[in-house]
Amino acid sequence: MYQKNTIKTIRWGIIGLGAIANDFASDLNRVSNTVIQGVASRSSTKAKDFAKKHKAQKFYDSYVDLLADESIDVVYIATPHHLHLEWTLKAIKAKKAVLCEKPLGLNALQVRQMMNAAKSEKVFLMEALWTRFNPTMEAVLKQLKSNPIGKLRLLKADFCFHALDQSTEHRIFNLELAGGSILDIGIYPVFLAYILFGKPQEIKAYSQFHQGGSELQTSVLLNYQDCQAQLFSSFAFRSEMKAQLYGEKGQLCIDADWFQSDSYRLLTQEGEQVYNHPKKGIGFCHEIEAVNTALRKGKTEEARWTLQNSLELIELLDEIRKQVGAIYDFE
Ligand SMILES: NC(=O)c1ccc[n+]([C@@H]2O[C@H](COP(=O)([O-])OP(=O)(O)OC[C@H]3O[C@@H](n4cnc5c(N)ncnc54)[C@H](OP(=O)(O)O)[C@@H]3O)[C@@H](O)[C@H]2O)c1
Repeated sequence: MYQKNTIKTIRWGIIGLGAIANDFASDLNRVSNTVIQGVASRSSTKAKDFAKKHKAQKFYDSYVDLLADESIDVVYIATPHHLHLEWTLKAIKAKKAVLCEKPLGLNALQVRQMMNAAKSEKVFLMEALWTRFNPTMEAVLKQLKSNPIGKLRLLKADFCFHALDQSTEHRIFNLELAGGSILDIGIYPVFLAYILFGKPQEIKAYSQFHQGGSELQTSVLLNYQDCQAQLFSSFAFRSEMKAQLYGEKGQLCIDADWFQSDSYRLLTQEGEQVYNHPKKGIGFCHEIEAVNTALRKGKTEEARWTLQNSLELIELLDEIRKQVGAIYDFE
């Protein structure tokens, strides 16, 4: 007998229609059984244009109005960092599932508030750490389980791009918007060390600061029982952005840009082997599919990137920011 397709369509809303929302919306349209139900901006013209470009069903000139739309299942929050807490809490209160851009909160205190709210309202919440869902990252984590390069001794990873031509008002430098490299891009190499090795025994960090006072570049050393992670983030130059993992019997290199890579390579005594795992679209399809699947199953968390993971990651970033003195006045 013919069986009807019963896969539930997930209806997304987007809050804050900036650069990343634009990329994310393009990928939403690449995922099946998914619609952009509504988009919200502080500007109605921007919302209307964005809705037209990305085939959104509705547009709003108020974030509050989008949250009141009962036809929306899940909200993607793509505002600057300092607004993640406010809009995540409001979305949870409106009983929406939430995918919030990284960092989930500015600090552990905020992340705990968000976790508690999601738990008490029994709604789905996840930090949009898209790299965790990248097919290459999944393949690397699986490959490492078979111990291909022996005991792991060192990770070298960074995330750097040149942004010195941007004004100090730009989101990445603006202290009122929680600018600085640690929360914006340093979060990625720290995430990689955390997902590979867990919580370190010791942390040492050094930063240099931009003319407007925001933290410009930071070196971090994480010390574990038998291995170390050398991590770096900067807005002052573009780096190669490979991630190198050294073991006693070889190396594993996640090719550039490692956080959105389509491949990795193993270097052992047998030679070099390249493994290709191309991502779909810009790379956000994988986290979108993860959220869709979790919602269809009625889950409130995604097992591969839980709220506890987000909390432990922000605790590392809290310690790094504390050591270098990159604390915001409003924290
Ligand atoms: N996953 C990734 O690869 C990735 C990459 C880049 C950024 N991000 C994250 O995504 C978030 C947004 O980054 P973005 O680069 O898209 O920033 P952006 O281009 O500046 O966009 C942020 C949007 O937030 C809204 N907004 C609300 N209040 C604001 C305020 N006071 N000042 C400025 N904007 C305000 C604006 O949308 P409306 O005007 O429409 O209201 C603005 O367009 C950040 O958390 C960042 O860490 C993630």
